[in-house]
Amino acid sequence: MSPQRPIQPGDGLAPAGADAGRILRLGVMASGNGSNFEALVGACRRGELAAQVVLLAVNNPGCGAVARAERLGVPVQLLDHRQAASREALDDGLASCFQAVGADLVVMAGWMRIVTQRLIDAFPDRLVNIHPSLLPSFRGVDAVGQALAAGVTLSGCTAHLVRLEVDGGPILVQAAVPVESGDDHAALARRIQVQEHRILPLAVQLASERLGLT
Ligand code: GRF
Repeated sequence: MSPQRPIQPGDGLAPAGADAGRILRLGVMASGNGSNFEALVGACRRGELAAQVVLLAVNNPGCGAVARAERLGVPVQLLDHRQAASREALDDGLASCFQAVGADLVVMAGWMRIVTQRLIDAFPDRLVNIHPSLLPSFRGVDAVGQALAAGVTLSGCTAHLVRLEVDGGPILVQAAVPVESGDDHAALARRIQVQEHRILPLAVQLASERLGLT
């Protein structure tokens, strides 16, 4: 599949032999607030996603995601990038942690580090990212600010598979969010996040079905 090939009708259909009753084991990576992490845990616990979040990895000690994990009873692993010898070493550490808990899929839910081919290769087509724009517009940092500066009237969010090119992998699910007159950064970001929390579980489901995991 080419890196930019859009999802086609039927892509989400599980191939023959897929294990329909299987509970997917999810790893999540977060750097900050962790609302997408909590949305994923919620979707699993409400039965909307046949999955379980088995590990949260964070790179910032004391970030909001850690407090959420403690409240939700999800195990947390700190991999502080400041202590890692290189980006590759950090990614090797992440891959080892997620492999050790038998993660089927790993979700970058607000992971504010560029990942290397090492992590991508450890979870081929099993690494999902959420980004607050309608990709391929506004890749990289502060996508909401970029959208406001460009004066677009429609923004949104994208869940996609991760490739080396930042925010460049195959798109799984998108949601559009109109920019309203008078929107400031916080207001637009807040409405986009509501949609992120909705589409991220859908993207995990789609990615796992495409792999024949569920
Ligand atoms: C989200 O807007 C996501 O799109 C971006 O980082 C933000 C993380 O938010 N990659 P949160 O930590 O999940 O609340």
